[in-house]
Amino acid sequence: MSEDDFLLEAEGLYKSYQMGATEVSVLRGVDLAVKKNEFVAIVGASGSGKSTLLHILGALDRPDKGVVRFEGRDLKRMGSGELNKFRNRMVGFVFQFYHLLDELNVLENVFLPTMAGKSVIGWLGSRIWAKRRAGELLDRLGLGERANHKPYQLSGGERQRVAICRALMNEPRLLLADEPTGNLDSVTGNGILSAFEELNRAGQTIVMVTHDERIAQKASRVITLADGKIK
Ligand SMILES: Nc1ncnc2c1ncn2[C@@H]1O[C@H](COP(=O)(O)OP(=O)(O)OP(=O)(O)O)[C@@H](O)[C@H]1O
Ligand SMILES: [Mg+2]
Repeated sequence: MSEDDFLLEAEGLYKSYQMGATEVSVLRGVDLAVKKNEFVAIVGASGSGKSTLLHILGALDRPDKGVVRFEGRDLKRMGSGELNKFRNRMVGFVFQFYHLLDELNVLENVFLPTMAGKSVIGWLGSRIWAKRRAGELLDRLGLGERANHKPYQLSGGERQRVAICRALMNEPRLLLADEPTGNLDSVTGNGILSAFEELNRAGQTIVMVTHDERIAQKASRVITLADGKIK
């Protein structure tokens, strides 16, 4: 297999945080490569650096040292405009606590990412398409009837499905999820996992962080983070 088959590659990632006088070294030489259409789970104890790693992979944070390449391109070489585009178009994020906006209804929460970086005219031009796509995603995740509800009117599992729709809105090449079931009971969590599995079968590349080994078994590959490295 040639290197071109990797969607995402990380090489020699180091990251530490300064806590007063002490330095907490979190990542100590992490290497990782994810192929297109893979569903990778990253497991590890609390505090092992899973979120730190995921944020670096999605360019929400920078490593102290090391390289992240997306489709062969070094993220460090991207300018800020290009990086914003990368975060907005190439990757979709799902977080443990959903991060939905309570003032907006479900449909608006889902199509919000299409408004980023657009002028008013640009947005007016694409809003019919955006609303249609948001509606289709909600249907696909079983929330078609909830488009006009506000997030606080939904259960945790429903809110997470809205967050997944929002992450998929711009057709990201990579879906990054940080403990997407961490706040849900096991039955609801399984529903979310089934949604990920289905997306993956349809070709979506996924990297998911979890500390639940049982959940991780649903992924096609499990990677363990310990002592700042991949085991
Ligand atoms: N901004 C920060 N400043 C200082 N220390 C931080 C910061 N972010 C993370 N850390 C520390 O880095 C370590 C790894 O944190 P991280 O959140 O990546 O762990 P995690 O594996 O995601 O844990 P959990 O399973 O509890 O979510 C922890 O010891 C944490 O306290
Ligand atoms: Mg975490």
